[in-house]
Amino acid sequence: MNDAAIDVFLAGRPDTSRRVTLRHLAGRDQDEFLDLVRASTQLHHPWMSLPSTPEQFQAYLARYAESGEESLLVCVRGSGAIAGLVNINSIIRGRFQSGAIAYAAFAPSAGQGYLSEGVTVVVRYAFEQLRLHRLEAQIQPGNHASLKLVRRVGFRQEGYSPELLYIDGAWRDHERWAITTSMVDIRPTPPHPTLPER
Ligand SMILES: CC(C)(COP(=O)(O)OP(=O)(O)OC[C@H]1O[C@@H](n2cnc3c(N)ncnc32)[C@H](O)[C@@H]1OP(=O)(O)O)[C@@H](O)C(=O)NCCC(=O)NCCS
Repeated sequence: MNDAAIDVFLAGRPDTSRRVTLRHLAGRDQDEFLDLVRASTQLHHPWMSLPSTPEQFQAYLARYAESGEESLLVCVRGSGAIAGLVNINSIIRGRFQSGAIAYAAFAPSAGQGYLSEGVTVVVRYAFEQLRLHRLEAQIQPGNHASLKLVRRVGFRQEGYSPELLYIDGAWRDHERWAITTSMVDIRPTPPHPTLPER
């Protein structure tokens, strides 16, 4: 999905977020992105590891260009400053129509609600434009800021998976939080072509 599709989606939903907008991560973001990652080391550790060198950034971009997954920047309306990042990973079509989100704020803009708004917009974008049915967030029990965020956005806890993801050098237990289309006031959209008729 290109940025024009996001613009169309946001233009049609003027009430979705007053303070933030979305756009895809692009090559031109490299310098600002790497500066923000450097400035956010303390905030991100030990929960999230983002590209921190030009080579890693280029590999990251290539992954999102090739995989069908989406890497979306949450930008502050007006200034355009990059407040954070929300990725839609592990998209499974067919009977699942499901994706997993991963997100991070950048230190200069953290603690102001921008990521909660960004994730809220991403949920609507995923359901209305990508025509997914469910988004999951996997969160370590000690990650209180992230747990607060998903609660604020309206996710529900579905379960708990021991040793689910390899993070910071070890297999970590995660709470499984998710949101489905029936939990959000979305516009009716035709089903994705890969959804079976019954
Ligand atoms: C998880 C993470 C993204 C949360 O970032 P954040 O900036 O705290 O999240 P929000 O944008 O939702 O901001 C919430 C804070 O802004 C405050 N806030 C201020 N104005 C606000 C507004 N208008 N609306 C909502 N919240 C507002 C809230 O009170 C809250 O502060 P609190 O934590 O002191 O209660 C961030 O801590 C992070 O990047 N962590 C490392 C990476 C990570 O863990 N990712 C998730 C892996 S599962």
